Amino acid sequence: MNKFGVIGNPIDHSLSPMIHHEFAKEFDIEISYEKILSPVEAFNLTAEKFISTGGIGFNITLPFKINAYSFSKDLTEDAKAAGAVNTIKVDNNKIYGENTDGKGLVNDLEKNLKQTLQDKEILIIGAGGATRGILKPILDKNPEKILIANRTKEKSLRLVNEFSEYGKVCGFGIDQIKSKPVDIVINATSTSIDGTMLNLPKGLCEGAVCYDLMYGSVTPFMKWALKDSALVVSDGLGMLVEQAALSFEFWLGKKPVTLPVINLIKETVGL
Ligand code: ATR
Repeated sequence: MNKFGVIGNPIDHSLSPMIHHEFAKEFDIEISYEKILSPVEAFNLTAEKFISTGGIGFNITLPFKINAYSFSKDLTEDAKAAGAVNTIKVDNNKIYGENTDGKGLVNDLEKNLKQTLQDKEILIIGAGGATRGILKPILDKNPEKILIANRTKEKSLRLVNEFSEYGKVCGFGIDQIKSKPVDIVINATSTSIDGTMLNLPKGLCEGAVCYDLMYGSVTPFMKWALKDSALVVSDGLGMLVEQAALSFEFWLGKKPVTLPVINLIKETVGL
């Protein structure tokens, strides 16, 4: 049987086993997919143990995506740009690292929410690991401009510098966001975890597609965007399923259909 899993800490909440078992059913493939809790200081040991017991692929979630990057011997372009790995494949004893988060977001926006990114002005709020992970896949879709606004301005400027070759990214402090509407607003801060609302100018989301990378509840950002007359408001559940589909494809070379799985999770888990 093909042995997969997801390593994180905490890991109890993970929906990945359910998602991957649904994908496997689509192709009539038997897989195992387990949740693996790793001690924070022992990612490599946990990963090595999983591989030595027959694991051929695994996902990596918080707080280990940077550890997984160092653990990988061969990195995809998306993983290199993200500086983090969320999917590892073991083949012939070689460890391949990929990052499907950004493409997962792009696929959710394009396939499920029917939005195009080309020529769009996109504001990303936050400049941490989540933002770094989505920048290249969004830039690959040729938007007009990406604005990065962060509480700590220097961090957004650092990202602008890292992605300067594209000539399309600019950065500033979160307090410098203008009230002028943009096409797409992405909340990539960790504020949705603790329920904090960002202080955003009125009119920013008017007519815009507003996307929160978090899933599991209607976040304060989503509530605010709805009030500010956003055209579309979404949480990150679709991104979660799409990034999983890309991992599944990376491991098994098969592209699962995702919409029924997104709907199933909404029904069964009540998201
Ligand atoms: P992740 O990997 O999820 O991106 P991170 O690297 O810790 O996590 O980044 C968290 C992001 O949320 C950062 O951009 C952080 O802003 P700072 O760089 O200024 O710390 C942002 N963030 C967290 N709490 C915030 C708050 N209350 N208001 C605004 N931004 C916040």
